[in-house]
Amino acid sequence: MPTIVITGASSGIGEALALRLAAPGTTLHLVARRRERLEALGERLRAKGATPGLHAADVRDPGAMERVAQAVLEAGPPPDLLVANAGIRGEGDGNGREAMEEILSTNVLGVLNAVLPFLPAMRAARKGQVAVVGSLAGYRGLPGGGAYCASKAALMAWTDSLRLSLAPDGIAMSLVNPGFVTTEMTRRNPYPMPFVMSAEKAADKILRGIEKKAPRIEFPGPMVMMVRLLSILPPSLSDRLLQLASREAH
Ligand SMILES: NC(=O)c1ccc[n+]([C@@H]2O[C@H](COP(=O)([O-])OP(=O)(O)OC[C@H]3O[C@@H](n4cnc5c(N)ncnc54)[C@H](OP(=O)(O)O)[C@@H]3O)[C@@H](O)[C@H]2O)c1
Repeated sequence: MPTIVITGASSGIGEALALRLAAPGTTLHLVARRRERLEALGERLRAKGATPGLHAADVRDPGAMERVAQAVLEAGPPPDLLVANAGIRGEGDGNGREAMEEILSTNVLGVLNAVLPFLPAMRAARKGQVAVVGSLAGYRGLPGGGAYCASKAALMAWTDSLRLSLAPDGIAMSLVNPGFVTTEMTRRNPYPMPFVMSAEKAADKILRGIEKKAPRIEFPGPMVMMVRLLSILPPSLSDRLLQLASREAH
């Protein structure tokens, strides 16, 4: 009878994960700001025999996320799986102060707000799994997306460190780094998206990794190779390659 919490469940990858995980006996706590979207998803989960818990909350608000955790823990056992997936890419100048503040407050502090309030109960239960959704964009600063890339790079370091401190308590931690996925976030992308995949396919890959308790869940393979290579090349060379690619795209 698993209990699962998913932030950013009102669309895209979070919604696809919730639909894949819905089964009789499963309780799915869904967190996002758009209540009506959560209600519609809740109905679809109920039709699959799952029990939805709906939490209209903003991950940037630590008090609101404390209240979500309290409500989840009062309703049942600590989560078997907590997916901190809510995130934004931001609009406008992706390297400016405004983008940095907006994106870090959702993608980094929002993840902390979603995860930390559950840890004491999960630690006490000595079980459970946390999956944080980052991005392959965290491997290196990409043209025009400094704030987004910085937020996902921060998640790599934070989850690597937290994984070590959670392991002795029997809690597994995975970082999910997808490439391009067709969702509301990427619908209006003006540039080509190599190896793009559907949210459903991404959800399947994520769940396979979660089942294996993989520390990093990264896909698709060719994009993983590309970003890893870019991250180890000397910046003088990787800059030139990225400049070339971005000129080709425009
Ligand atoms: N799509 C891609 O190509 C791609 C690639 C790599 C990584 N990712 C990552 O995957 C995750 C999910 O993104 P997606 O592609 O599925 O995009 P999406 O369809 O736009 O979904 C984003 C989700 O996050 C929620 N959210 C955003 N800000 C929030 C806030 N302040 N409080 C609560 N919920 C908030 C949104 O719900 P509300 O608006 O209702 O609050 C929505 O449910 C993100 O972390 C993203 O960075 C996506």
